[in-house]
Amino acid sequence: MVSIYKSLIRPILFKMDPEKSHNLIKNILRISLPIKKISEPMLNLDFCGIKLNNPLGLAAGFDKNADMLLFLSSLNLGYITIGSVLLNSSKGNPKPRIIRYDRKLSLVNSMGLPSEGLAKVYKKLRNSKIPLFISIAGNSVKEYVKCYSILSNVAKAIELNISCPNTENGRLFQDADNFKKLINEIVKIKSKPTFVKVSPPLNNKQRENLMEIINVCMDKKIEGITAINTIQIKEKSLATGFGGLSGKLIYKYMLKTVRDIYEYSEGKIIINACGGIFEGKDAFEAIINGATTVQIYTALIYEGFGVIDKIIKELKNILKAKKFSSIKEAIGYAIKN
Ligand SMILES: Cc1cc2nc3c(=O)[nH]c(=O)nc-3n(C[C@H](O)[C@H](O)[C@H](O)COP(=O)(O)O)c2cc1C
Repeated sequence: MVSIYKSLIRPILFKMDPEKSHNLIKNILRISLPIKKISEPMLNLDFCGIKLNNPLGLAAGFDKNADMLLFLSSLNLGYITIGSVLLNSSKGNPKPRIIRYDRKLSLVNSMGLPSEGLAKVYKKLRNSKIPLFISIAGNSVKEYVKCYSILSNVAKAIELNISCPNTENGRLFQDADNFKKLINEIVKIKSKPTFVKVSPPLNNKQRENLMEIINVCMDKKIEGITAINTIQIKEKSLATGFGGLSGKLIYKYMLKTVRDIYEYSEGKIIINACGGIFEGKDAFEAIINGATTVQIYTALIYEGFGVIDKIIKELKNILKAKKFSSIKEAIGYAIKN
């Protein structure tokens, strides 16, 4: 399936503007497909009380407004993250706002959190065959709280996106003091496993701030961290002049951040690894460095949906070859041994 995508579909899609091709896919893929389900007990996970078939999740941003839910549910993903959803509808940044770095298997986007808004997205959410996580973002504590209180009724887990590099307020709550204010309100209404999506620290000050966020999460019993969001870089061909880098080029930042969080928290906080995962071995490395689940976005653009089954099969084979009997056994193995 990966090769058909690369030889036939991708060349057509890549002739188009990246956002237009994504919208085209979004409009076509509104149906469920009879895709063979992979059942592999060694990949099963009981994850904060949520049963996952496997640890591979869809990262936030791919289906921002829950348009492809039916289709996505027919894939072999362990879970799907919808969003980021905002309280009010928002157009996002001016276009062009995505470009491909083809040879580097990476993207730069300055989408700026476009969202149809809570009310519209909520209507499209239905019982998904695969556990549904919802990413939320906001400009104020009130906005996060409103989104959380409504969307936690339909989601198996909520991911708080505090790390969007493309909006004015996208990283407001990544400041540890603001984060405490946000979490103090979230815990009052918290009803589902909750994850916090962070940027990778790029200097000592940012690392200290991240570890403060981890402390707050552990103190307030927030279940986990999703690491990492895109990394802001300058990019002249985007209308904003900057954007968030994703894909292969950020894999090493993801791995370092996952390892750092796992070591710092002594494995006491769950980590969802996200950033540049394209193959089973990338997922395996993230897991033995402390991740419980892994998420993908950019790999889907370059490899197509067939990459999901490919990563799952490769991961299973690596675990078997290394004599692990389950995912659980492999989490943090490189650090513990
Ligand atoms: C076009 C685009 C839009 C994104 N939108 C969101 C978003 O709305 N919320 C979010 O938390 N992350 C968003 N992300 C970040 C991804 O979820 C992910 O953290 C990042 O792309 C790194 O993973 P990858 O290398 O597998 O793509 C977006 C990424 C891309 C490329």
